[in-house]
Amino acid sequence: MKLTYFGHSAFQIITKDNTSILIDPFLDGNPHCNIKSENVFADYIIVTHGHGDHLGDTFKIASKSNSLVIATNELANYCANKGCKVHNMHIGGAHNFDFGKVKFTLALHGSETPDGQNLGLASGIILTIDGKTIYHTGDTGLFGDMKLIGELNKIDYLLLPIGDNFTMGIDDALIAVDFIKPKVVIPMHYNTFPVINSDPKVFAEKVKQKGYECKIIPFNETIEI
Ligand code: NI
Ligand code: MN
Repeated sequence: MKLTYFGHSAFQIITKDNTSILIDPFLDGNPHCNIKSENVFADYIIVTHGHGDHLGDTFKIASKSNSLVIATNELANYCANKGCKVHNMHIGGAHNFDFGKVKFTLALHGSETPDGQNLGLASGIILTIDGKTIYHTGDTGLFGDMKLIGELNKIDYLLLPIGDNFTMGIDDALIAVDFIKPKVVIPMHYNTFPVINSDPKVFAEKVKQKGYECKIIPFNETIEI
């Protein structure tokens, strides 16, 4: 399976059987992303919350690719009203799709859309695909239930924000790593805007000191996972 990082919280997973899954596809407005949304195809788009830097280019990509948009109920309904094919879920719920399992988790954050609608709770997602478990926390502050998430799931790849200001910063992210105990930590949500500037190398060094592996994926690069 392949994991591409477009910067911010935007990722693409290509499964072994070539299914394309986008997470939080903020591409055209993302200063680090060097591919335009019109050149991206997605079978599925998973959106963690309604903020513009996560909803991103969901509508453009979904209408061109006929993607299935997976999100919490309020956000999925919002996307359906914009013409998307959707699958409504909510926090605590899991569902098996053709590519694998998606479970929505708590995230301490908001979910207002770019046009000012408040869509309730933000979320994180735990994906189980091709035998690997990936936890994309979405935007969130540190919360104690991450410990429970770590106890209940064997997380292979933890995608964790480090940019501070809107989400946890490096210090709280390090506590989250202790709570979740993943095999590999991948930092996200940093250096997109000046207010979330954060040094992933400093974070990676501290993660390694704790005995965990940290992989900084350079913007627009793909790793095999
Ligand atoms: Ni946000
Ligand atoms: Mn954000």
